[in-house]
Amino acid sequence: MTAPLTGRRIVVTGGSGFIGSHVVRGLRAAGAEVLVADLVRHPDGDVKSVLVDLRAPGAVEQVVRPGVDTIVHLAAATSVLRSVDRPAETFTNNVTVTAALLEQARRCGVGTFVFSSTNAVVGPARHFPIHERTPLAPLTPYGATKAAAEMLLSTYNAIYGVRSTWLRLTNVYGPGMGHKDSVIPRLLKAARAGDTFEVYGDGGQLRDYVFVADVAAAVRRAVTDERWNGPVVIGSGVSTSVLDLAGMVREVSGVDLELRHVPAKAGEMPKVVVDAGHARSLGWEPATSLFDGLKRVWATWPASRPQGVAEPVSAA
Ligand SMILES: NC(=O)c1ccc[n+]([C@@H]2O[C@H](COP(=O)([O-])OP(=O)(O)OC[C@H]3O[C@@H](n4cnc5c(N)ncnc54)[C@H](O)[C@@H]3O)[C@@H](O)[C@H]2O)c1
Repeated sequence: MTAPLTGRRIVVTGGSGFIGSHVVRGLRAAGAEVLVADLVRHPDGDVKSVLVDLRAPGAVEQVVRPGVDTIVHLAAATSVLRSVDRPAETFTNNVTVTAALLEQARRCGVGTFVFSSTNAVVGPARHFPIHERTPLAPLTPYGATKAAAEMLLSTYNAIYGVRSTWLRLTNVYGPGMGHKDSVIPRLLKAARAGDTFEVYGDGGQLRDYVFVADVAAAVRRAVTDERWNGPVVIGSGVSTSVLDLAGMVREVSGVDLELRHVPAKAGEMPKVVVDAGHARSLGWEPATSLFDGLKRVWATWPASRPQGVAEPVSAA
């Protein structure tokens, strides 16, 4: 049987990152010819990649050439709280680069554009669950730049025929996130090092955690299935408080993790509860429960503090 993506030529921006590495593996396994465009080298030497800062003049023209049929755009300034300190830089990386890629897609006749957006575009929603029709009211420059990029995609979809879909991801976790500093890696680092874990606020914040392999499966579907168009919420549909998450990490790791409460951070959404019913209606189903996923991440978690670039607080 022919692999479903045989003959497809796909540029994956940010393909060396946490989500990108899983996405690239999935696309290649399905037969696609993948070119990664990233600031950092892809860990797998067999993967074709271009080391490039997509903000640089001529960069998008260098990576997206005639013959490319799909762009999976994952590269971004991903830190929510850092975006509060650096809004202009976040705008350039998340909006200007997306606009340049879309324009190059139009020029080169790229048919499909898949974009990694975030549930943060809706901000502190008043009605739950959050779904594709929840009004956009981002709370941070990160959320605002993702929302702006979505609007650009919508236009290129409508006028220029670049089929675009934007996946509104919740908190993504999984193997390979040692360089991130969102809540799950912070918990696992603390458990491994025997440190006290700092809980922002009362720890009652509800978050939806989705396993990275499930996100990679959603991207594969978005690439191949024309029904994936516009916004699609990608989340487990189950929300967990930070305190309950810490309890699960205790159970998975066998470490009696100590907690210390510190003041809540500005820009944090108080509650995330999503409805992924639209994605389910398009054939996607999250396959990994939070507990099983945490076991898998813990099993691969490095014994010592991981190397790599730590971010203050990560996406979504
Ligand atoms: N991780 C999450 O929980 C989550 C949630 C919602 C949305 N997202 C989105 O998913 C995407 C991937 O996130 P991730 O968690 O894998 O982050 P990551 O930081 O691990 O990966 C991002 C990659 O983009 C690259 N990059 C950034 N700016 C670039 C530039 N100017 N030129 C070239 N490469 C550049 C980085 O080098 C990195 O390899 C991002 O768009 C992020 O906003 C992530």
